Amino acid sequence: METDNDLLAKRRENHTRGALAEAGLYHSFRLDDGVVLHGVLSLELLEARLAAFQLPLDLTGRRVLDVGPWDGYFAFEMERRGADVTAIDYVDLDTFRALHHALKSRVDYRRLDVYEIDPKIHGTYDIVLFLGVLYHLKHPLLALEKICAVTTDVCIVDGFVIDGESARQGIQPPVPFVEFYEHDELGGQLDNWFGPTVGAVESLVRAAGFASAEVLRITPTTATVAAHRKWKNLPPDEEDAVKLFGLNCHAHAGKSFQSHKEEYIALWCDWKAGTAPPLNSVFPEVSGYGVAPLACTLTSIGLLISLRVPPGLATGIHSARLKIGNSRWSDPLEFYVDLPPIDAIPAIILAQDGIQWLPDEVDWGSGGWLSLWVSGLSAQADPGNTIVEINGIPHSPDKVIPESGQINVKLRPLILPGSCEVRLCHRGQFGPTKTIQVKGQPPAIRGLEALEANAPETYPQVHARR
Ligand SMILES: C[S@@+](CC[C@H](N)C(=O)[O-])C[C@H]1O[C@@H](n2cnc3c(N)ncnc32)[C@H](O)[C@@H]1O
Repeated sequence: METDNDLLAKRRENHTRGALAEAGLYHSFRLDDGVVLHGVLSLELLEARLAAFQLPLDLTGRRVLDVGPWDGYFAFEMERRGADVTAIDYVDLDTFRALHHALKSRVDYRRLDVYEIDPKIHGTYDIVLFLGVLYHLKHPLLALEKICAVTTDVCIVDGFVIDGESARQGIQPPVPFVEFYEHDELGGQLDNWFGPTVGAVESLVRAAGFASAEVLRITPTTATVAAHRKWKNLPPDEEDAVKLFGLNCHAHAGKSFQSHKEEYIALWCDWKAGTAPPLNSVFPEVSGYGVAPLACTLTSIGLLISLRVPPGLATGIHSARLKIGNSRWSDPLEFYVDLPPIDAIPAIILAQDGIQWLPDEVDWGSGGWLSLWVSGLSAQADPGNTIVEINGIPHSPDKVIPESGQINVKLRPLILPGSCEVRLCHRGQFGPTKTIQVKGQPPAIRGLEALEANAPETYPQVHARR
């Protein structure tokens, strides 16, 4: 039986370091004149890795990004297949540059950290190679998200795994996990941070925003996974389309999303069966990209499907649609990403109790509903980009109707009777304040009923801007 010390000793083994010091090169190369340059990784080994990627032999017209190319074997091979190749590394290596010259290469070699890659600056790539880098990163999920954002077709992820031997025999832990190396436990190297299981690599890839993860190859110490952005091998479109009747952000009832926030899409669709379908038969698609669903729950109003907002969506209007099992695709529903601030100042024209319709007041006795009629809303106004501040306390509206300028909001129990200042914030723009009178007593805050006797005259103001 393997002891903890055996495991630590095994993790600390590093056969590459000495070999690298001797060879100078990590990759081997066969030059046009037949000369072979011998690196730590033999040509046979590199060819076996390459074959596992299952990439077309002709890549003419495709854009390929190689992240962490080291000496550049894979970047130069992609170029040889006709691709337009960019290679980024956080160090600029003599070996890469010398081989680039010797091979008369046109690969665009840049010193760039993986975390810096950005579709707005660098564009997108059909194929991304992310080979032997993941376990070197302190923020592997962030790096995968950055990569997902620039990948339009597939990213080949390969690297160290801790359970290669057992995974090859079909044995995987019930829950994927990663070992964490604070110091130099893995290979005696400070820049080795994580040792994932094969399943963890697959999960990380999906969690980063890829539609699916396909295991291509497992060796005793490595796994190669194809991270696909589009759904592959979908069931045929044989049955009626799913009826999608709602889309909102999990944090509010609106359709506005902000890409720098942890926000999830909730899709709602009709569902007649008595149980929710299995997650692996649910295929959401966002602006042409497949997105692995996180959960699928049957509720009293229909099926609720939760998914992440895939990284890299451009500012503006996007759409989501859904296929379940053999169904045809649903009609799409729109949502908004990173809408910019607007110029118009949102102004409150009329404020009324939402039940009694009395002007300039709200009565807790009839439920504490405030209805506003406002000007300055954009056509995309919704509860995600519109906040009603009452005494400085942000309120997310229940309903925003841009066509009529109506906003309905339920007062939070923090709003006490008396004179209150109301103002609107829509897409980054605050409007002027309007004074209303709040009457009656708010309900106790759930869980704080015992505090009711000591309720303050007012609560401190917390400003929130969306
Ligand atoms: C083990 S080598 C892998 C080389 C090659 N991709 C392969 O799989 O054979 C790791 C490479 O990733 C690069 N690298 C490590 N951290 C990086 C980062 N944060 N951003 C970009 N490149 C990085 C290293 O400089 C090196 O070229």
